[in-house]
Amino acid sequence: MSATSSAIQSTLVENRVFEPSAATVAAARIPGMEAYQALCAEAEQDFEGFWAKRAREHLSWHKPFTQTLDSSNAPFFKWFQDGELNASYNCLDRHIGTPVENKTAIIFEADGGEVTHVSYKELLAKVSQFANVLKSKGVQKGDRVVIYMPMTVEGVIAMQACARIGATHSVVFGGFSAKALEERINDAGAVAVVTANYQMRGGKELPLKAIVDEAITQGDCKTVRNVIVFQRTPTAVNMVEGRDSFMHEEMAAQSDVCPAEIVGAEHPLFVLYTSGSTGKPKGVQHSTGGYLLWAKMTMDWTFDLKDSDIFWCTADIGWITGHSYVAYGPLAAGATQIIFEGVPTYPNASRFWQMIEKHKCTIFYTAPTAIRSLIKACDSDEKLHPKSFDLSSLRILGSVGEPINPEAWMWYYKNIGGERCPIVDTFWQTETGGHMITPLPGATPLVPGSCTLPLPGITTAIVDEMGNDVPNGSGGILVVKKPWPSMIRTIWGDPERFKKSYFPEELKGYYLAGDGAVRSEDRGYFRITGRIDDVLNVSGHRMGTMEIESALVAKTDLVAEAAVVGRPDDLTGEAIVAFVVLKGQVPTGEDAKKLANELRNWVAKEIGPIAKPKEIRFGENLPKTRSGKIMRRLLRSLAKGEAVTQDTSTLENPHILDQLAQSN
Ligand code: PRX
Repeated sequence: MSATSSAIQSTLVENRVFEPSAATVAAARIPGMEAYQALCAEAEQDFEGFWAKRAREHLSWHKPFTQTLDSSNAPFFKWFQDGELNASYNCLDRHIGTPVENKTAIIFEADGGEVTHVSYKELLAKVSQFANVLKSKGVQKGDRVVIYMPMTVEGVIAMQACARIGATHSVVFGGFSAKALEERINDAGAVAVVTANYQMRGGKELPLKAIVDEAITQGDCKTVRNVIVFQRTPTAVNMVEGRDSFMHEEMAAQSDVCPAEIVGAEHPLFVLYTSGSTGKPKGVQHSTGGYLLWAKMTMDWTFDLKDSDIFWCTADIGWITGHSYVAYGPLAAGATQIIFEGVPTYPNASRFWQMIEKHKCTIFYTAPTAIRSLIKACDSDEKLHPKSFDLSSLRILGSVGEPINPEAWMWYYKNIGGERCPIVDTFWQTETGGHMITPLPGATPLVPGSCTLPLPGITTAIVDEMGNDVPNGSGGILVVKKPWPSMIRTIWGDPERFKKSYFPEELKGYYLAGDGAVRSEDRGYFRITGRIDDVLNVSGHRMGTMEIESALVAKTDLVAEAAVVGRPDDLTGEAIVAFVVLKGQVPTGEDAKKLANELRNWVAKEIGPIAKPKEIRFGENLPKTRSGKIMRRLLRSLAKGEAVTQDTSTLENPHILDQLAQSN
């Protein structure tokens, strides 16, 4: 295909519009665009009334709130602040005595294929038992508990148990290193860590407890009094006398009744660390009332949830998607959900399709990277291809975490959705708590690659650097003009950084998302064009370039200086490219390969394997201005393999560009 014809084709693809079927509209919770617009108008006319009504409808309050929004200390907004409730009560107890109590809450499929069903009633009993375990260890309301667990029912039990006693959890993704874990434990001041001896992924047993031990010892985590270990596999691990104990033994000794601790609506439900533009991860603090409200409402709205649905969100509980759409949203909504321990390619790349068929999944929510890698694996093998499976149970598909390219969208739509299922491309962030911009299955005409329109009550806009609206068709900065209930409350322990990062003065008090976006001229649909800060999105995982740079320069015996940039990648969305100046000579050939490998493994140890640079280039220096500033835009061009067309006249050392243009 010539360049012109492929350009024409991709324009055609992006102009395609898929209207919801009449049957989908008729059966939907928000039936059609008029219904969507009516909700938007309601929110516009009486903003607080709109939210207050929903908060009363969707949540059980122990003590009703009288004030909806408190903006007196903006941007530290408070929602429903004099109301009292408990998140675990709203996810579990609330269903007892209703038909949901005996419904399956979780269909768990282990890495090896074993399946377990847990009903709401059973889950409540287990959560209560584990809540009693935490209490027996002296964990109290307001204490922080770090959870470093695999994707298992026990992971959700640990989160819910914290919520039940009013302890603030901080889940750390099981792929993070001891160093990353240690930083989070210390920043949060956690009193306990809940972990597993091992995790099973793709048939392999990977250590978790040993990493916790390393983190606590190396990081001198003085606040940690207890480590509670879920025994996922029979393999023994080191247990520290007086500090460590096994989850099952502790639970067996406890009652399965534990009244929920009632907390204020603003009580911090959790802190979840994410990457920003400095080297230090940010502890994003979420509230109880506002957060849970939106997790529940977006289950209903975005996924058009019905009683009979079998919902499956493939995200790990270590990320925000696993918080809102595994641990809280589906339970608050009384849904049946699938939790999967393993990886999409084990035992082979048809695992997802097999599971959809077996469990009769109706709503499937995953990341574009997973789709792109499965396209590659399945298109070349008939037996693995989704057409070899019965996927007729599906009715809605979702995408999250990164832009989905129109080609991947079309493949998903045709091959998984059978051209029948709407795709909800949900744009949101750790900080937003829940979906912000997304199609509604029974209302929004779909355009591949576009997350379409904000949810009712959500005031996203595109502005210039002074906070002025830009016309449709012109790119700009994505902001949210008014607060919303599930917004980030602060950065744990660093309110100044919260203000500076998200509410810069020049933006008129709007929330700065950190993404660029553009609205289409015809429909006003949003398309996210990518981060405008030093944050990368690799396989839907958020990584700070400064974080990786700090890790590289921490290898003090080797590295003098490092700069990290992203480059577009067909499979992972973005790939990490590091430019490194060594303390010694610039290596070449085999030496360069060996050193690059050493550094990649070093980064994996410092942060985690997800942060490993795909490529490392060595040079005797980095391109700098005369004032010593690294010119990252030049590095971005070099990483892409583009000729440098930018003005290099301010460059101190232009000859360095030739050296850095070469891959090793
Ligand atoms: O750049 C946007 C991208 O992911 C970032 C948020 O990452 P994180 O906090 O880890 O949360 C991911 C899961 C919600 C955003 O700033 N992003 C997320 N969803 C989309 C997206 N980019 C384009 N389209 C999306 N649907």
